[in-house]
Amino acid sequence: MGMHDEIYRLSLEARSVIRGRARRTPLDYSSTFSRIAGFDVFLKYENLQKTGSFKVRGALFKLSRLQDARGVIAASAGNHAQGVAYAASVYGLQAVIVMPETASISKVEATQGYGARVVLHGRVYDEAWEEAVRLSEELGFELVHPFNDPLIMAGQGTIAFEVLEDLPRVDAIIVPIGGGGLISGIAVVAKRLNPDVRIIGVEPANAPKVTVSLKEGRPTRVEVKPTIADGLAVKAPGDLTFNIIRELVDDVVTVTEEEIAEALYLLLERGKVLAEGSGAAPLAAVLSGKVESSGPTVVIVSGGNIDLNMMYRILLRGLSSRGRIASLEGYVPDTPGTLHEITGIIASRRGNIVDVIHERTDYKAPAWHTRVKIIVEVPSRQTLEEVLEELRKRGYDMRASI
Ligand SMILES: Cc1ncc(COP(=O)(O)O)c(C=O)c1O
Repeated sequence: MGMHDEIYRLSLEARSVIRGRARRTPLDYSSTFSRIAGFDVFLKYENLQKTGSFKVRGALFKLSRLQDARGVIAASAGNHAQGVAYAASVYGLQAVIVMPETASISKVEATQGYGARVVLHGRVYDEAWEEAVRLSEELGFELVHPFNDPLIMAGQGTIAFEVLEDLPRVDAIIVPIGGGGLISGIAVVAKRLNPDVRIIGVEPANAPKVTVSLKEGRPTRVEVKPTIADGLAVKAPGDLTFNIIRELVDDVVTVTEEEIAEALYLLLERGKVLAEGSGAAPLAAVLSGKVESSGPTVVIVSGGNIDLNMMYRILLRGLSSRGRIASLEGYVPDTPGTLHEITGIIASRRGNIVDVIHERTDYKAPAWHTRVKIIVEVPSRQTLEEVLEELRKRGYDMRASI
């Protein structure tokens, strides 16, 4: 039996194994994103999946085959860790998760919350992986690879059954690519159910391993730069996932950090959906015009585990690029009433002051002037322009930035 047949058969089995243990996530039409894209966009909400990402599907299926093992072990600083930890708790298996020392406290705690033992080792993922290999031999635990495993791919492929049941006339499915387990599973199942469905992969321009590997004709390691889509920051696809991608995936596109940040912002503001960077990458590709489609298009929102500090920074950037939050800065006369007048102008346009920094120790200030920086929230970019215009009319040379 060929690899595709094997994964399809396994995925059918995975459906019944994960039923009741993972959620059957909703697929919803988005009028807002359809309007922007120019074709019908549907979102598949894997951010609402148990543990906050699709990873639990593959982990549940894989671990269902390991119930006699002494324990399981995985290396991950992210969603694979939580998926394996949760699946281990479902089957009553011991789990050890090796994370790089840089892993965020929230991820460590979430993984421990499912009962796994977390071992912090190494500065980067590769070092954590080597330690996991070593520990698996020492403890006699089964190592669970995050993507290059037919059982993991088959588990992730269960998403495609749900998509084709809910939307049989789907034209294209847009899928993020890390190591390629998710897209491989989805491609095998979707193409089997309907060979006309197009599968389009999305990866960050900062981690373009599949784009480069396809060009080279073999799995190729690339240099990975930091990306908000941390789940997609993988150096090379697996040999199994690469072959499936080469055979079944119709197109792979890359997205920039700005495009991912904008998609995260719009998902939250317009869609009321909290996604993580990797989960927003497919929508980023659609909204930036990198995906062509004329029929119903499904965008996989693959996860929602974003650090709130990161989301806060993305929101600030989004608000400032829309002129809805700004920093007004300049030198103003150091005389009584100046601040009063400036803040009065802001208030008269319904601007809300977030912070005022009055820097008298700025020795570059012209004589009898002081530097002020006022962070304001305003209803729109136009209001911001009006405030600046009024300030200028009254003799205050202030500029907006963030
Ligand atoms: C939220 C999210 N989306 C997508 C991916 C990529 O999945 P894969 O490595 O199977 O390509 C990951 C991987 O960690 C992820 O966490």
